[in-house]
Amino acid sequence: MKIVVLAGGRSPERNVSLSSGAKITNALREKGHAAVLIDLFLGDTLSDVHTVAEVFQRPAPAADYAISEEIITNDAIDALRTDATKGLFGPNVLEICTAADIVFLGLHGEAGENGKVQATFDLFGICYTGSDFISSGVTMNKRLAKQLLLQNKITTARYATVKVGQATPKLDFNFPIVVKPAQGGSSIGMEIVYDQETLVAALTTAWQFDNEVVLEEYIAGREFSVGVLNGQALPAIEITVADGWYDYEHKYQDNGATYQTPPQIPAAVHQQMQAMALQTMAALGLTNYGRIDFLWDGTTIYVIEGNSLPGMTPHSLLPQEAAAVGISYADLCEQIIAGKLAQGKV
Ligand SMILES: Nc1ncnc2c1ncn2[C@@H]1O[C@H](COP(=O)(O)OP(=O)(O)O)[C@@H](O)[C@H]1O
Ligand SMILES: [Mg+2]
Repeated sequence: MKIVVLAGGRSPERNVSLSSGAKITNALREKGHAAVLIDLFLGDTLSDVHTVAEVFQRPAPAADYAISEEIITNDAIDALRTDATKGLFGPNVLEICTAADIVFLGLHGEAGENGKVQATFDLFGICYTGSDFISSGVTMNKRLAKQLLLQNKITTARYATVKVGQATPKLDFNFPIVVKPAQGGSSIGMEIVYDQETLVAALTTAWQFDNEVVLEEYIAGREFSVGVLNGQALPAIEITVADGWYDYEHKYQDNGATYQTPPQIPAAVHQQMQAMALQTMAALGLTNYGRIDFLWDGTTIYVIEGNSLPGMTPHSLLPQEAAAVGISYADLCEQIIAGKLAQGKV
């Protein structure tokens, strides 16, 4: 199959995406596919080929991209582009994607995850992995997602929202409070605050990433995530951090966190978490694959959020959960594609 693995893009999670994308491309190559890694934002000059079709015959990319500890800014990403192209799609990206049988979305954050790329592909008749544009958009917006969870009676932490420059609303929960940009990812722009003074500072930080910020009741408990692949819940994975919380550094640096799948929790709790993962997928409209994050305080299981394009880096949770049930990384990539193609075109 001719497959474009689309990665990079223009978001603080650009480097995470490139790391996922290189790994996905190499795995699909191992499986015999003509897979090619394309950077959504930088595009491809096609200087080494005569036709778009020849792109799929290129040699494999470097095995892995390292993820830098620094979060890349959009200004720094803009500086990487040397041509005069405007917009998110770099040169020839749409042409190359149109020539593929399917585009594997290795994007994370902003346009790749919020449905805009998916909507563009719908208009161009390009087939892609993962969920459609509307459920991607809803899932990416933590306020809309929480509204849907509550409507569907799925337990989630209490919350309020505050738009840029607005006063903090009266909250029906106490400190500590989790401050999150409504549309973010990888814990970027997030803080856990313990008093009014740090709340004000954290809001200023979070507003740099989004005009709207979600304030959430802090749930003290153990953290888990459950991947869903083609309608089946994978085993949960427990995430433990030795110090602090599961922020960007803990997510992507070696030894940042320890993971256990299947986790050591009562079978009934595990089953309930898996059932809640499937309910959350349905509530948010997610299909093909996704991942739902949880906190369990020993009594109640809370959904933190859904992820429409879960990370596929070497440290990522979904690949570890799949491995726990004997699905290799390359098989996981192939099953995502097969599941999407079985749903019919776009
Ligand atoms: N209500 C909460 N109580 C305690 N910890 C939380 C809460 N919400 C989020 N966290 C912590 O912050 C991390 C990131 O939050 P999440 O909502 O999943 O945002 P992101 O989209 O950045 O992954 C979670 O993995 C968890 O460790
Ligand atoms: Mg998360």
